[in-house]
Amino acid sequence: MRLTLGPSGPLRGRLRMPGDKSVTHRALLLAAGAQGESRLTGVNPGGDCAALARALRELGAVVKPIGVWPARGQRSAPPPAGGDPPGYVVRGTGGRWHEPARVLDLGNSGTALRLLAGAVSGSPIFCVLDGDASLRRRPMSRVTEPLSRMGARLDGPEGGSRAPLAVRGGALRGIRHVSPTPSAQVKAAVLTAGLAAQGETWVVEPHRSRDHTERMLPHFGARLLRAEPDATGAPAVGVAGPQRLAACGIDVPGDFSAAAFWIVAALLVPGSEIVLEEVGLNPTRTGLLAALSRMGAAVEVEPTGELSGEPVGTIRARHGALRATDIVADEIPALVDEIPIWAVACAFAEGVSRLSGAVELRAKETDRLRGTARGLAALGAEASETSDGLVIRGAGPASPGKSPLAGGRASAAGDHRLAMAFLVAALASARGAEVTGAGMVDTSYPGFYSCAIALASSR
Ligand code: S3P
Repeated sequence: MRLTLGPSGPLRGRLRMPGDKSVTHRALLLAAGAQGESRLTGVNPGGDCAALARALRELGAVVKPIGVWPARGQRSAPPPAGGDPPGYVVRGTGGRWHEPARVLDLGNSGTALRLLAGAVSGSPIFCVLDGDASLRRRPMSRVTEPLSRMGARLDGPEGGSRAPLAVRGGALRGIRHVSPTPSAQVKAAVLTAGLAAQGETWVVEPHRSRDHTERMLPHFGARLLRAEPDATGAPAVGVAGPQRLAACGIDVPGDFSAAAFWIVAALLVPGSEIVLEEVGLNPTRTGLLAALSRMGAAVEVEPTGELSGEPVGTIRARHGALRATDIVADEIPALVDEIPIWAVACAFAEGVSRLSGAVELRAKETDRLRGTARGLAALGAEASETSDGLVIRGAGPASPGKSPLAGGRASAAGDHRLAMAFLVAALASARGAEVTGAGMVDTSYPGFYSCAIALASSR
């Protein structure tokens, strides 16, 4: 699918983001494993979370949509105006999952597949977790290895390192898992399995990954164990099993990773000012704000409170000049999904920006180092990949009617975040851009494209 956007005049408006995708995944999964009926509101309406909801139904949970949902199948459908935000009422299985009659198709979602592998590992059932061609290429041994050590049997192509994954769950024992790379998906999978295991299960990471699982588990009645960072500074979190979860209500904050596209759009398009309301401000997610602040960006953040243990607030971003900055390994977990849109901002900065220690980006929905460098170069930016990062020579800011980025045609290669990043670049470019392979935007942000068109044409 191709999506096209022309160069835009000032972007002005107040927006609400779709619900946070990571928080929605965890809310669905924990609610489906809990005893009783949970009410989840403001959930992410995209394809990734919908795939998890379908799989959870096959596993015996009752998952009913509530509120107003974007029209299905209309990729550019605007988010519905008014009415309650999309949500789910979930009647959980109490941890007694049913053996599914079919292969569980998690579509494009690495989070859904890896979290589910952890959740079912402690149940005496057999199931097969699969997904699309992109998901089948992604590394799975990071979850199959610790879950196997806990006592589950998992197998798949290439020695169990790729999907489809066949899972035969059973009695688990707690482990201490030292994760070589920070990964919130691995942490969530191992901790969820730990709830069904005998004894303590610990996860140690080299740098702290997003902590939505830790924040949400106590809402479902689980007790967490925490240890002081060890000699290397690595933090550890654990659970003592077995523990049962109890249903609760979860209000999902707006997705910072969706907000990131509008923040950068406002910074790059002359005359713009965009206000984003009720956005999640979890510090393990907002690393982009620190990078943009070093770049001199006009971004103001006003915390307004908390939703289900997650800080939220209002973000206001305005057009202005940017200077280059570098990003190194220990910053990456807090902006791992924002690298493509950060790179677009760098193309409009003064000076050379460098990303390093980011080889993990090659294991996302696509190889995002290659995809970002190629797409930006195709649009006329000076951008290249290194073995573990990117180098972007910025061309300076756009001014009214004039942009240093030519525009043209870029491929998103079926990656939702690359597609949205290049569409933002289109708005700030001289000629606009056609983005090919852009059909996956709906996995995280249905309505993004229509929102871009609406903002660009409202004067
Ligand atoms: C996610 C964790 C991150 C992130 C992904 C969502 C999650 O992946 O890139 O989009 O919800 O746990 P990793 O855990 O592989 O870093």
